[in-house]
Amino acid sequence: MHITLIAGARPNFVKISPIIHAIQAHNESTKPRIEYALVHTGQHYDKQMSDSFFDDLNIPAPDVNLNVGSHSHAEQTARIMVAFEAYLMEHATDCVLVVGDVNSTMACAIVAKKMNIKVVHVEGGLRSGDMTMPEEINRLVTDSISDYFFTTSEIANQHLKREGVSDDRIVLVGNTMIDSLVYSLDKIKKPDSIAGLNLDDYYLLTLHRPSNVDQQSQLLNLLQTVDRLANGRKVIFPIHPRTEAQISDKGVFKNIHFVPPLPYLEFLFLMKGASAVITDSGGIQEETTYLKVPCLTLRPNTERPETIEIGSNQLIGNDMNALAEALLQIQTGRWKESQIPPFWDGKASERIVHYLIKLLA
Ligand code: UD1
Repeated sequence: MHITLIAGARPNFVKISPIIHAIQAHNESTKPRIEYALVHTGQHYDKQMSDSFFDDLNIPAPDVNLNVGSHSHAEQTARIMVAFEAYLMEHATDCVLVVGDVNSTMACAIVAKKMNIKVVHVEGGLRSGDMTMPEEINRLVTDSISDYFFTTSEIANQHLKREGVSDDRIVLVGNTMIDSLVYSLDKIKKPDSIAGLNLDDYYLLTLHRPSNVDQQSQLLNLLQTVDRLANGRKVIFPIHPRTEAQISDKGVFKNIHFVPPLPYLEFLFLMKGASAVITDSGGIQEETTYLKVPCLTLRPNTERPETIEIGSNQLIGNDMNALAEALLQIQTGRWKESQIPPFWDGKASERIVHYLIKLLA
């Protein structure tokens, strides 16, 4: 059996790493081997957005890098499709495995399916219901053509079933992002860029969604509010290139400490020690859930509602009063202790390999 694994953007690297390790572990102990190739689309390409993740997560060098780079959605998607089709014509495979919801996920799923190659979607079934999010479109398209789904929650299973996917094509395995987290917790590193900061009580901030950062005045307002609500505490803000491009004067924010995008192990260090994480990311809602660090999500909706139900995450949208109230709750010890969803235990990738062998036999 030969599997082609796809990774293109930062969160993909975190999700694919433990799957590769589980395949390697399988190959060391069990026959027949699973042959595999790793394709990096090149959607993310900066050292900080890509290479450092390969190093920190011990991911083998990709077999090929399609080097597509940054473009408009249509052009990025199209370039990935053209390059991946050419690759697949030269490199036969039984199955293409995609993770998450980025443009690379959807582009490669479409190419594989049109070449009659089985498509497996890890993290299938997530739905925000928000069609203004590019990721929601990527999720819907990918799921509408995937053959098999490895899911992170029962809610995701329900979405897929409602859309007509039969039970035998869905396996609830847990969360491979949590696998990486569990694997890495004893390797976390304090970032050099925060040397000298008081780390007793700080917030961690990340923002990169077009809806929060592409309009400069809205972004600056948001940062001013966070800066004010921090009330003297430091807010550490590893800044995504897309967001950085919008901020000309970082000096106006008293409490916000801007740092470049961080390597995975350094980011985990900051997430684990934070009093709260304020974010518009998807994956961080899950990682904070495992770490039991309160997460305040600057979005009106989430494709990860289990994190809300379980109490580790609160949707803030753009309601700054809600943000103030939530931070107050956290500071005064009124934020309730939360749980960890079933199967978010570091073993999702082992389960994926186990079921892949059965499904593709
Ligand atoms: C992408 C994903 C998003 C994911 C995020 C994680 C899509 C639609 N979006 O968003 O779901 O949460 O990755 O980081 O796939 N850039 C660089 N260096 C890089 C990569 C990007 O400077 O290595 C800059 C470029 O100016 C680029 C912009 O970031 O135009 C956006 O990059 P892109 O990959 O299009 O989307 P992200 O916002 O990173």
